[in-house]
Amino acid sequence: MERLADAQARLRAELDPALPALPALPAPADPAVMARLPEGTAVHCGVYRAVYDADAMQSLWQPRLVWEATPLLGDTGEAGMDAVLDGLRRWLDTEVPAEESRDQDTAVELYWPSRDVDVAPALFRHGFVPLSTLAVRTGTPAPAAARDGVSVRRATLSDLNELVALQAEELSYSLRVVGGTMRANATELITTSLRRSVYFSGRVLLAESGGLAVGVADCGIARTAPGTMIERRLPSGQWGYVGTLSVLRSARGTGVGGALVDAAHEMLDAEAERGTFLFYDLANPLSTVFWPRKGYRPLWTKWVCKPAARLR
Ligand SMILES: CC(C)(COP(=O)(O)OP(=O)(O)OC[C@H]1O[C@@H](n2cnc3c(N)ncnc32)[C@H](O)[C@@H]1OP(=O)(O)O)[C@@H](O)C(=O)NCCC(=O)NCCS
Repeated sequence: MERLADAQARLRAELDPALPALPALPAPADPAVMARLPEGTAVHCGVYRAVYDADAMQSLWQPRLVWEATPLLGDTGEAGMDAVLDGLRRWLDTEVPAEESRDQDTAVELYWPSRDVDVAPALFRHGFVPLSTLAVRTGTPAPAAARDGVSVRRATLSDLNELVALQAEELSYSLRVVGGTMRANATELITTSLRRSVYFSGRVLLAESGGLAVGVADCGIARTAPGTMIERRLPSGQWGYVGTLSVLRSARGTGVGGALVDAAHEMLDAEAERGTFLFYDLANPLSTVFWPRKGYRPLWTKWVCKPAARLR
């Protein structure tokens, strides 16, 4: 297995210098899936069962039950991914009750380096689609647009109602983009999360124009600590992230988002030694234009097969 991990790490280093320079995926002691290519090479896949209950903020955009797959392919590319996904299909059939994997609120997900397009045909064949990307800022932002009358400041708890309304608007837009369903308790979860962010982190930025709240950027600081979702996905250290960026529909395209991101970068760069990262959906016609102009580019692509029983 070490040979596979080494080969995978070497291939990744060649593909994308922004990926962490350590074995991207540790060899699992007891992988759920073991498969062989026709010529005999063994490949593996770990599977983690993640549950997003009604009180979890992630349940707003994640299915309730997700099997997170971590393939270990070495340098076997498309053929290796094919073999692993065949094995994963068999594993689901034998280990998971059919009524559970058929539930519409389930998925199988995996993160794969965005630049490794060689494996993409195998993922498509097995029912996966590329949904979103973990992007890092490696470029220089395009010159800022004029933004007369827009001011940005740190939000306080007295702004909570406006913040919640803005973030709910972003959620409703993003759920349409990814084909998700609005949870009945969305407002409650957003309110709790924003209250915590404003109170404990203090890194929520509010944009105002003409005395009205027109945009929000909910930011934070993250470490590549064990168990975090950026562990082994980003070079180790402290990172800044832009969690949610939302601009009131009627104010979009007038420089509000740009002003918020400039202020967010100024705030985060002062604390985050490694840089900044964020997620955006690949079918979002606004953010896919916006973020590359702000210096971000895809590092990892999240592939999703939903519901899980659609894996073939
Ligand atoms: C994405 C979003 C935050 C951008 O905010 P915005 O206020 O509309 O963006 P701005 O007006 O500041 O534009 C910033 C830059 O992107 C460009 N831009 C914005 N929208 C664009 C579009 N649809 N097409 C081309 N360029 C666009 C602008 O020209 C500007 O570039 P410049 O500063 O170099 O001139 C906003 O459209 C939005 O809230 N969308 C819905 C929710 C969403 O998608 N959130 C992001 C989730 S990751």
